[in-house]
Amino acid sequence: MRRYLFISLLIVMLLTLVGCQSAKEQSDTAELKLAHNLPLDHPVHLSLLEFGKLVKEKSGGEIKVKIFPNGQLGSEREVIELTQTGAVDLTKVSASALEGFASDYSIFSLPYMFEEYETFQRVMNNKKVTGNLYYQTEDSGFIGLTYFNAGLRNLYTKEREVNDVSDMNGLKVRVQPSQTSVQMIEHFGGIPTAMAYGEVYTALQSGVIDAAENNETALVGNNHGEVAKYYMYTGHQIVPDMLIMNAKRFNQFSEEEQQWIHEAAEEATLYHEDVWAKSIKDQTETAKDKMGVQFIEVDKSSFIKAVQPMHERFSTNPKTKDIYQLIQEAIQSE
Ligand code: GCU
Repeated sequence: MRRYLFISLLIVMLLTLVGCQSAKEQSDTAELKLAHNLPLDHPVHLSLLEFGKLVKEKSGGEIKVKIFPNGQLGSEREVIELTQTGAVDLTKVSASALEGFASDYSIFSLPYMFEEYETFQRVMNNKKVTGNLYYQTEDSGFIGLTYFNAGLRNLYTKEREVNDVSDMNGLKVRVQPSQTSVQMIEHFGGIPTAMAYGEVYTALQSGVIDAAENNETALVGNNHGEVAKYYMYTGHQIVPDMLIMNAKRFNQFSEEEQQWIHEAAEEATLYHEDVWAKSIKDQTETAKDKMGVQFIEVDKSSFIKAVQPMHERFSTNPKTKDIYQLIQEAIQSE
């Protein structure tokens, strides 16, 4: 009996030792899984690689980031859920996809909220706006770390040139899974279909939809320019790409480590601005010269007018009026 007790004790001791050892290993190096749905040559992917490099450098190799691109781990909605549970540590998703998780994110899908990119950028660099925005989802399991420029969203069609909002009548347009984007197309007079990004190429090709809307990288990086030959500069939304992280995982790091992650994220956002500008220039040329896509200016004022009722609703709806007001103030403050 005694011998039996001794052996059990020994096993417990051994297991404890093994446990201590693996906990130590865990604290010596950590590997963070980061999922996103963009291709390898996409400017945002390049800036996420930079983020990983910076995290590694700042932590002296203690924290590493492993990227799973191309939607390998699922659609944006799915990877947000994986980030909530902690199966994935970090993900980069469009702010539109976050609308279903926190209503404040819907402000980015409100058409013509920002007149131009510089205004948007000023708002995103205002800590009064982002401090609140990035942390309000902590109870839902994730926090925001930073944003990446994802350009202006423009309309592109297979067969129809669009010059003003009246040309949108009856047009079947894919939008992101966001109620605000669905309403936007309805106000333009089109027929919205919400679907995940990965399904858009086939939907365009097969005629399930006539049109979609996105920045220029969709044409080349995701080959939509093979099917859609008219790209209209409607500039209806400026929706950033967001880098979010599982809150528990983030809070497990020491203050110093958290600081490294924050700094790496902010530096990657700055780095991204140049990568983005160059990539949009190159991809627009490729779409024009190699894919035969026509780039068309439109009567923007007719689009702006069509969505005015949405602005009125956003500024009075109890769910959105505070963020609407806060951003208006940030826009106006110099
Ligand atoms: C942008 C964004 C993607 C998003 C896509 C979409 O390209 O970078 O993250 O999935 O829009 O329209 O769904």
